[in-house]
Amino acid sequence: MTRIFLTGATGFVGRYVAARLLARDEVTGLDVLVRAEDRDHAKARLLDSLLHAVDPSEAQELVERVEPVIGDLRSPRFGLSEQAWDELATRTTHVIHGAANVRFDQDLEDARSYNVFGTQQAAALARRALELGGLTRFDWVGTAFVAGLRRDAVAEDELEHQAGWKNPYEQSKYEAEVWLRKNASDLPLTVFRPSIVVGESASGATTNFGMLYWPIRIYAKGWWRTVVGAANTPVDIVPVDFVADALDVLTRPGEPVGRTYHLTSGVDGAVSIQSLAQLANEYFGGRPARFVDPEFFMTWLRPAVDLLIWGPKRRVLRQGGRFFVPYMSGNPLFDNTETVNALKPHGIAVPQVSQYFANLLDYCRDTDFGKNPPS
Ligand SMILES: NC(=O)c1ccc[n+]([C@@H]2O[C@H](COP(=O)([O-])OP(=O)(O)OC[C@H]3O[C@@H](n4cnc5c(N)ncnc54)[C@H](OP(=O)(O)O)[C@@H]3O)[C@@H](O)[C@H]2O)c1
Repeated sequence: MTRIFLTGATGFVGRYVAARLLARDEVTGLDVLVRAEDRDHAKARLLDSLLHAVDPSEAQELVERVEPVIGDLRSPRFGLSEQAWDELATRTTHVIHGAANVRFDQDLEDARSYNVFGTQQAAALARRALELGGLTRFDWVGTAFVAGLRRDAVAEDELEHQAGWKNPYEQSKYEAEVWLRKNASDLPLTVFRPSIVVGESASGATTNFGMLYWPIRIYAKGWWRTVVGAANTPVDIVPVDFVADALDVLTRPGEPVGRTYHLTSGVDGAVSIQSLAQLANEYFGGRPARFVDPEFFMTWLRPAVDLLIWGPKRRVLRQGGRFFVPYMSGNPLFDNTETVNALKPHGIAVPQVSQYFANLLDYCRDTDFGKNPPS
């Protein structure tokens, strides 16, 4: 009998995970943390979210089987009373903490209040469940980008480094993972580190048009054909269905605990910015992308861009540029040997980018980058 407490179920990744957990025979209940005014609001939010991940008929049925726990990452005990906290801990056999604030534009203290403090609350719940009942697993969703400004191949068992980070989000996730390693060694902890999560491999469907989608969008619209970055920068992307499948099978009863999994395309599967630009060029047509060194751009070209480009186009270019250009100028590689070996018995392999990239672009084109989602 498995009763899971899941956070992040209303998010891009979490909704696919929730649907998979509910399909498991041994899962007798699923409690999910939701920010909501009341139970009806929580259920409506969950339905709205699941409608993006499963068929509408299935979504309603799934929501009926979920128990919402109204709360917030930034409050002690997620804002639950001591009694509600202990009741939740008593019935919980498995905690999966996926909730986080993933914005790149927050300041460090804000990012910590969600990502470090929220992780500490999830660990406290797991520990209480260990004391009161039968906790068997505590699974934590981190990010491969805890590796920050490293530029080499990162092994799954590596964490601490001095290289720094691209933004407060990365740093807060790093600090949360370091905190867990130092303070949660008594818990059956397993860490999952996805890289850049993109839409579903078969349909391209996504609700998240950040990161990789920013350069694709400005490129597709013909606004800007110059990539500010280095052509050979490796980019590691994985489709959301792969991430959810991996989280599903690797968190089942009997799976080992204590490991760290890179849910990534790996050292050989990462592709260069240049090859992604080429694929986008073949798809959208027009002039091929040019590459310009970020430092040269900031010193010499950015002032001209500021003068020549106006309106919403300028906002999209500047904001996206600030947050996403660092990911086009240099990235680590994420070795995924342990994950590949663990997934093999389940018949799951990491999809190759060339197998599904056109599906992502189809979805971008058909929905105008999420503006006209399918009804
Ligand atoms: N997407 C990626 O490319 C990527 C890559 C690597 C790692 N990850 C990791 O994967 C996990 C899921 O990311 P995602 O892309 O699915 O993010 P997302 O779409 O922004 O979803 C975040 C989830 O966390 C919840 N959450 C945020 N603040 C909360 C709060 N104060 N209290 C309670 N819940 C809160 C959100 O609830 P609301 O609906 O109420 O906002 C939502 O359910 C995160 O841990 C992230 O670090 C993501």
